[in-house]
Amino acid sequence: MNNPKQTILITGGGSGIGLALAQKFLQHGNTVIITGRNLTKLEEVKREFPELHIFQSDVTKEEDVKKLVSQVQAEFGGIDVLVNNAGIMNLVDAGNESNDLQKQFQEIEINYHAPIRMLHHFLPQLKKSKHAVLINVSSGLAYVPFAQAPVYSGTKSALHFWTKGIRPQLKPHNIRVVELLPPVVDTPLAHGADIAEDDNLKPMPPENGQYILEGFPEQER
Ligand SMILES: NC(=O)c1ccc[n+]([C@@H]2O[C@H](COP(=O)([O-])OP(=O)(O)OC[C@H]3O[C@@H](n4cnc5c(N)ncnc54)[C@H](OP(=O)(O)O)[C@@H]3O)[C@@H](O)[C@H]2O)c1
Repeated sequence: MNNPKQTILITGGGSGIGLALAQKFLQHGNTVIITGRNLTKLEEVKREFPELHIFQSDVTKEEDVKKLVSQVQAEFGGIDVLVNNAGIMNLVDAGNESNDLQKQFQEIEINYHAPIRMLHHFLPQLKKSKHAVLINVSSGLAYVPFAQAPVYSGTKSALHFWTKGIRPQLKPHNIRVVELLPPVVDTPLAHGADIAEDDNLKPMPPENGQYILEGFPEQER
């Protein structure tokens, strides 16, 4: 990510890993746009990091994403990097018949359908960029099913295979496709899970940034 002065959009950039990435990208002189559903949270972040550009936008809402695309086009002339980071993790016991089914479908919407929607709508802008990169934030749980959050693991596996599938398709359009696989990170998302007793799953602070990047050469990180 050494190309200077890129315009980078991070979904769900108002907290956790997204915010840590946003700070890093700012430090390297990029223009950074973050999105999220909660405007108050985004405004608080903006007070701390005034250089950040904030947009209230729900990745599951078609009209929000279309509006975001036009606003970003008008204000910044497009983006170079799209980071599909927004995600949630619900703890679900599939053996419990009183589970909230809509909540489970919502998790699939946010974690898997939304990256597909975001790429679809931002594709024209990425195609115009000279240094286009799509970064999908999946998880180690794409490879290792997490019994406390089976729907989450399924969405991250789907995201992983989708990322692998589109990488060769976007190459001729000069859009590099990267998968970012964080380990357990100390963010609101990880707080609900029962992992405190397991030393191998000790959450690391988001700003450590020791994430596995698939599809990005070592020397360019
Ligand atoms: N923490 C971990 O251990 C870990 C490990 C591997 C992968 N990950 C992945 O890393 C990514 C970031 O998670 P995190 O751990 O940093 O958690 P986090 O702090 O809870 O961040 C998730 C962000 O996504 C936003 N978001 C959720 N639903 C959204 C929607 N419909 N539209 C727009 N934004 C939405 C949230 O903001 P609003 O609520 O304001 O919308 C929040 O800022 C996720 O994809 C997660 O699966 C996390």
